[in-house]
Order: sequence, then structure tokens, then C-alpha cells
Amino acid sequence: MQTNILSLCYLIGSVSFIIGLKMLSNPVTARRGNLVSAAGMAIAIFGTLFLYQPAGTHFHNQQWIIGAMIIGTVIGSVAARKVKMTAMPEMVSIFNGMGGLCAALISVVELGRIAQDHSDMHVLSILAGMVIGCVSFAGSMIAYGKLSGKIKDHTFPGQHILNLLILLAVLAMGAFIIHGDSAAPVFIFCGILALSLGYGILFVLPIGGADMPVVISLLNSFTGVATACAGFLYNNQVMLTGGILVGSAGAILTILMCKAMNRSIKNVLIGSFGGSTVVAGSTATGDQGAYKEISLSDSAMVMKYARKVMIVPGYGLAVAQAQHACHELEQSLRNNGVEVKYAIHPVAGRMPGHMNVLLAETDVSYDDLLELEAANEQFSSTDVVLILGANDVVNPAAENDPSSPIYGMPVLQVWKAKSVIINKRSMRPGYAGIENQLFFLPNSSMLFGDAKDVLQQLILQVKEL
Ligand code: TAP
Repeated sequence: MQTNILSLCYLIGSVSFIIGLKMLSNPVTARRGNLVSAAGMAIAIFGTLFLYQPAGTHFHNQQWIIGAMIIGTVIGSVAARKVKMTAMPEMVSIFNGMGGLCAALISVVELGRIAQDHSDMHVLSILAGMVIGCVSFAGSMIAYGKLSGKIKDHTFPGQHILNLLILLAVLAMGAFIIHGDSAAPVFIFCGILALSLGYGILFVLPIGGADMPVVISLLNSFTGVATACAGFLYNNQVMLTGGILVGSAGAILTILMCKAMNRSIKNVLIGSFGGSTVVAGSTATGDQGAYKEISLSDSAMVMKYARKVMIVPGYGLAVAQAQHACHELEQSLRNNGVEVKYAIHPVAGRMPGHMNVLLAETDVSYDDLLELEAANEQFSSTDVVLILGANDVVNPAAENDPSSPIYGMPVLQVWKAKSVIINKRSMRPGYAGIENQLFFLPNSSMLFGDAKDVLQQLILQVKEL
């Protein structure tokens, strides 16, 4: 009876995880989706705590488990409440690393069972969980360090060959354990652990800062696979379902992000595009000619009397926390009969869906958010494009300069609009560290200042006109 109820708890956990994940794919239902998945997992966890009866022994140590859960819940809740939107990728990488570490520790704990059950599948799932979990943990910690500026990119000659050799050594040791007649010596397991951690570090260390979210989503996928291995080991449906779904969702997201930047995963992993080349406070070199500035009052005037305005949010909007002011300006223009839309680039900001999440905070209508293709179709019929802290995602070099590091990345073709107003604080480059030809085009004007200050001024000016 108890076992049947526990199976029902696992079924509810698995189904709610699937439903929750589906709901996460739409901004309108995403928050509820998160709660649905969390509730399902809570049912599975408490079901295990109170109903699980291992064969031949009794389930003990509940007080330790509950104590650890309370500590984890407090740390997680405080971190999630305090984290700034711009620091979200760092937090995701730490949390992901912890998932990988858990999966690796499960394998380490289960190593003792290899002597009792030496079936190939059993040993394979223990080893795979250990290796993939360690890679994910170590890689995620390095990713956190790099995103928070604590660790710099490191490359040295022959790094990729060394990585390959480490992988081959791990595979060879794994094959030795699986095909060995008796239990392998402890130092081989320690060797696999150490090499897997080392691989995680060396694999992420040279990757450019701008590519880090792609790597984090790949590591996320690794954590899912490691968890699925643990689920296979325990024959636990929830861990298996959750692990497989996280593994495949992470892999799909990795592919989608690569597509949005027009880069192959191989290019991301062994290339060196982006972040690392940017020196803080530097100005891109190059001679593009002169740019012109526009005043706040002129900007307010052209937008108020425009038929259609398209707002392009970018990383700077998130830095300035100007999303509410942006929504207010949008409403103010709408009240004056202007049609206002948002053009959302898939990799604007610093994490997937960054701009959607930012604008969702202000209850911007989802119908007004245009994705890249839809926005590009509408720029030629747009009177004014207002760019708020976006740079790389509106850089025409991606289309017309084969020597540019972002060449081939789909961009918002804002230059097709009648006039383009670019708000940023200076002429400094964006994340890719390159100059933007857009700023020098005849229909472009620079509106310098912090996005929040500028938007607040624009709102006042539009009201006063
Ligand atoms: P960026 O190209 O990074 O440009 C942001 C611009 O915002 C900067 O040029 C900066 O110029 C301006 N800015 C910063 N603070 C500001 C403030 N307080 N007020 C006004 N402007 C401010 O951003 P983007 O166009 O959103 O492109 C994103 C880039 O990041 C792409 O290269 C993308 O590949 C990369 N990336 C994306 C992701 C994902 S998944 N979204 C993850 C990592 C990297 P000033 O300093 O002159 O103000």
C-alpha cells in the first residue's frame, strides 16, 4: 500500500514537472509553471521521506535530510530574492553546479555497490553520473567565476589536445573498471574524479565571456544527464524524468542560442569570440566618421508625432533598471495615438529571455513584443526606433562586414526605419567589443545618458509638448 502511494507521488512529480516545463515556455504561464513543477517535486521528496522502504533495511537519517533541506531552502530563497537581474547568469551557474555536484556525490556514495552488483549498466550509470556531474560542477564554478569577473579567460598552447587526452584517459579508466573481473583499486576511482574535475575547469577556462550563457546551458544539460544516471541507478522515475527533461531542454536551448548567434557549438567551445577582448572603459577603434547627437526635447518631439515607434531594449536597459520608465514612456506615447512595439532580439542582454523577463516585470503586453523576424519585417514601416542600451544586436556589421566577429549573427535591422535614436552613456562598444556602424549612419542620432534618467526626462517632455 505504502509503495503504491509512493509510486503515485512519483507519477504526480513527473507529470507536474512535464506540465510545468511546458508552461515555462510562455511568459504568461511561466511563473505558474515554476510553481507547478516545484509542488510536484515537493510531493515526490516528501513521499520519499515518509513512504520509502528500502528492501532489507530501514530508511533512516531523516533528521539530517530535513535539516539540509531547510538550510538549502533558506539559502536558495534569500539568493533568489536578492539577486540582481543582471547577475542572474552567475546564480544559474552556481545552482547548476550544485546539481552536478549532487549527482556526482550520489555516484561516489554508490561506488561501494559496484562490488555487489558488477553489471555493466549499473557500473556505467555510476561512472557516467560521476564523470558528467563532476564536469558540470567544476565547469559551472569556473563559469560563475568568469561571469562575476573573478576569473579571467586562460588559454595556453595545446589546451584542446590536453582536454582530449584527459577525456581519453577517463574513458580508458572507465572501460578498465567495467570490464575488470574484480573491484578496481580505489586510486582509479580517485583518478577519474580528479580528471573529470580538471576537465570541467580546463574546458570552460578558455571560453570567451560572451559565449558563457551557451556554455552554462550546455553544463545545465550535463547536470540533467548526470541526474538521469542517478535516476537509472535507483530506478526512480522522478529523477529519471526530471534528468532527461533537463538534459534535453538544456541541449535544445544550447542549439537555439548558437543559432541566434549564427555560431556552431564547436565554434563556441573552441573559438574566442566576445567578452574577453573587451577592456572595461575602452573605446573601440576604427574611423567611421562623425556621429550626430539629438536633444531630449527633439527626441520627445519626433516620437510624440510619429505614427509608429519601435523600442529596442538591450543590456543597458537592464543595467539601468529602466524597464518601468520604459513602460511609462510607451503608455505616454500610446495615449498620444502612437503605435508602439518592442523588438526583442533573442540574445539581447546577458541571458536567454533576458529582455522578456525584464519587460514582464512591468506588465508590458506580450502582444507588443515582436521577435526578430517579425520586427525586421516592420522596421521599414517604422518612423522612429528608440534603442535603449542595445549595441551588438543592432550592429549592421553582422550583415555587411565579413571580418567582424559577429558577422552572420542575425541582428535587428533598425537602420531600415526613418530615424533611429540610440540611447547609451558613451561611444563605448557593447559586449563583443566592436564599433557599431549604426551610430554613424545619416538617419541615426545619439541620445547620451543613463537609460533611466533619459526615459524619465522623455516622459516629462512628451507630457509637456
Ligand atoms: P551590448 O552589445 O552589450 O550593449 C549594451 C550597451 O548598453 C553598451 O554599449 C552600453 O554602452 C549600454 N549601456 C550600459 N549601461 C547603460 C545604461 N545605464 N544606460 C544606457 N545604456 C547603457 O548589449 P546587447 O545589444 O543587448 O547585446 C547583447 C550582447 O551580449 C551580444 O553580443 C550577445 O551575443 C551577448 N550575450 C548575450 C547573451 C544572451 S543569451 N542574452 C549572453 C551573453 C552575452 P555605454 O557603456 O556607452 O552606456
